[in-house]
Amino acid sequence: MADASQGSEFVVVANRLPVDLEKLPDGSTRWKRSPGGLVTALEPILRANKGAWVGWPGVPDVDVEPFYEDGLELCPVGLSEKEVADYYEGFSNATLWPLYHDVIVKPVYDRSWWNAYVEVNRRFAETTSKAAAQGATVWIQDYQLQLVPKMLRMLRPDLTIGFFLHIPFPPVELFMQMPWRTEIVEGLLGADLIGFHLPGGAQNFLYLARRLAGQVTSRGTVGVRSKLGSVQVGFRTVRVGAFPISIDSGDLDEKSRSKAVRDRAKQIRKELGNPKRIMLGVDRLDYTKGIDVRLNAFRELLEEDRVDPVDNIIVQLATPSRERVESYKAMRGEIEQQVGRINGEYGQVGHPVVHYLHRPIPRDDLIAYFVAADVMLVTPLRDGMNLVAKEYIASRSDLGGSLVLSEFTGAAAELRQAYLCNPHDLDSVKDAIVSALEQQPEDGRRHMRAMRRQVLAHDVDRWARSFLNALSEPAEGAPRHVHE
Ligand code: ADP
Ligand code: F6P
Repeated sequence: MADASQGSEFVVVANRLPVDLEKLPDGSTRWKRSPGGLVTALEPILRANKGAWVGWPGVPDVDVEPFYEDGLELCPVGLSEKEVADYYEGFSNATLWPLYHDVIVKPVYDRSWWNAYVEVNRRFAETTSKAAAQGATVWIQDYQLQLVPKMLRMLRPDLTIGFFLHIPFPPVELFMQMPWRTEIVEGLLGADLIGFHLPGGAQNFLYLARRLAGQVTSRGTVGVRSKLGSVQVGFRTVRVGAFPISIDSGDLDEKSRSKAVRDRAKQIRKELGNPKRIMLGVDRLDYTKGIDVRLNAFRELLEEDRVDPVDNIIVQLATPSRERVESYKAMRGEIEQQVGRINGEYGQVGHPVVHYLHRPIPRDDLIAYFVAADVMLVTPLRDGMNLVAKEYIASRSDLGGSLVLSEFTGAAAELRQAYLCNPHDLDSVKDAIVSALEQQPEDGRRHMRAMRRQVLAHDVDRWARSFLNALSEPAEGAPRHVHE
């Protein structure tokens, strides 16, 4: 067992550190914020708890010693070029990611990628076992690290281990495709508490724990932040629950009220030529996000004269993501072709109808875009939660704007007053866009008020507290029901 005489009382383990190491052309390096919702959600919590964060520094073949940043201990896990290709781009993002997102693209099952996944998960478990104090609480994050709970428990049985999945947990029929399905279920069962965004994911997992791992589980319905399920693994009771993630809504609300952000929002509208309506998309450039869906819907609306290209424009802000994975390369080409086609057919010189930026936008600028946008377009084919939808709502202290939201996001379970649409049905997306563009101001304010109540009351702090409180509670005795 590792020496746990020192170390942190609270450790977060995630594929990435909250900052990525960037190599500059002159050979020097600097740290920059990592992409994605996981960092957005967890960074404020860990800073407040003064814990340690175990993760990959975002570039291959670097050897970085643990270091402190703003009271946060960062413990880097190095990955070689080949491990990045096999564990991160391969098994995590070309096998698990598409499988867990409704096989929107076909998952690749490759034994050498699986071997790399096992090896890298082992390294994360070893680094964590050295970073955690005796009896510490360790919170493992997301699909890249599903084997770490079991590996860490074997190294350090004294730890309390939580696991949270930030992406959807798939329907049983899809999960059963996975050649290493039993190993993954058993890996997760090393945790004391396993969290999903939605009760459906928790139910799917309970079924698989019975079917694949042969464990005794509870049978009742799992609630939202309540009515946890349980799995009996030998003498241990593993609990399983639904904890929908959120954002630092108070911070966004406050920033969106500042004069600087309001002025920038006005400037953005002016720079865009003061059109009557601005529609906005903000996403990692990922095929799950349905960027192509909203562009197709917009093009058809223009074609059918239901929307005027002089008055209505789209701004699509897309952060580069997983750029060496084939399906991401192909999708980027397709989206950029769609943008070119729409502008070619409906734009004017100096006045495109789709403004597209392929780069991350600084945080304050992003909030100004939210404030400037009349219609927020969130149209994923599948998304565990989608924090962007919640960020938009939190930024609209003026009660303006409207949200078009795919039913296939976790956020749709909470934001019922949005213009909900089925991204697989283009007419449904088109109708939702038209309704959002034409909404009466009083209806808009009513919808926004209701959605803001939800987002401001259920912030990321409440998410973390509800998970960590459940993790610290002793599990009740063995579940009463027997397995099939
Ligand atoms: P995911 O975790 O799949 O990336 P989420 O919507 O849950 O999706 O979270 C994405 C996070 O990344 C949000 O905090 C969002 O503001 C941020 N983000 C997305 N696109 C951009 C962009 N173009 N520029 C800056 N931040 C972005
Ligand atoms: O939850 C989705 C997720 O994979 C997170 O783990 C991460 O924050 C985000 O998407 C960005 O992905 P990547 O780390 O692969 O750039």
